[in-house]
Amino acid sequence: MSNSGGWRLLLLLYPRTWQQQFGAAFLALLRERPPGVRDMVDILSGAAAAHLRPRAWQLERQLLFEAAGPSSFSSAPASGPSPDPPRDQDEQRRFTRRTFLRNAVLGGAAVTAVGITGGTLIFLRPDDDEETGVGVVTVPAAELPAEGAAPLTHDDGKFHLIRNSDGYLAMSWRCTHLHCTVPWNDREDHFRCPCHGSVYDRYGARLSGPAPRPLDLLALSFDASGNAVVDTDIIQQRETFEPAQVVPPPG
Ligand code: FES
Repeated sequence: MSNSGGWRLLLLLYPRTWQQQFGAAFLALLRERPPGVRDMVDILSGAAAAHLRPRAWQLERQLLFEAAGPSSFSSAPASGPSPDPPRDQDEQRRFTRRTFLRNAVLGGAAVTAVGITGGTLIFLRPDDDEETGVGVVTVPAAELPAEGAAPLTHDDGKFHLIRNSDGYLAMSWRCTHLHCTVPWNDREDHFRCPCHGSVYDRYGARLSGPAPRPLDLLALSFDASGNAVVDTDIIQQRETFEPAQVVPPPG
């Protein structure tokens, strides 16, 4: 493959959104210095990961983005005169190519490796949806979690419903750091975010990690039959846990 038409075929291996975001930079970098065999392996495995594990691939790119900073992805020099001397510009270009390939392409290969060994990437995803509530969700009384037991996790509503000694809490499963899905960890009796390790207790209060605040609360009430009614459109952010946030058991 030795011309830009050939490189364009490589570009087509990636998802359309990726092409739109990075396509021009990708082609420019490959024209600047054609990839070696190892680069080709990374590019192909990255493309495969993008299609086979799109959410994990997206997450990996986001994490690497944050680590490198968005400026690492710009391929075109800024318009207007640059204050940098030529030598610095060369170094910048090398840095740009290196970080671009590492972040945008190698990220896919990294995810493939993680996916093969981990197998738990369903939770390793930032939930980029804005507050996508599904309205009111009813949890039948018979399915309510027992006191001190693991929470009931509602996939459609994206929340955990947990029962403590003083009552119930319905909490969003979105980590308050970067919105990864936070699963319950039965062994630790805590919620633990798989992305950067934030830990939340049974009340959703942050115990450790980079999360800035407790898990968000969803509006919770009980109907006359004792069913839990969770309004996923009413979300309350909180700075700390307060006992008043707990909804007493029905009856
Ligand atoms: Fe970073 Fe959860 S997303 S700790």
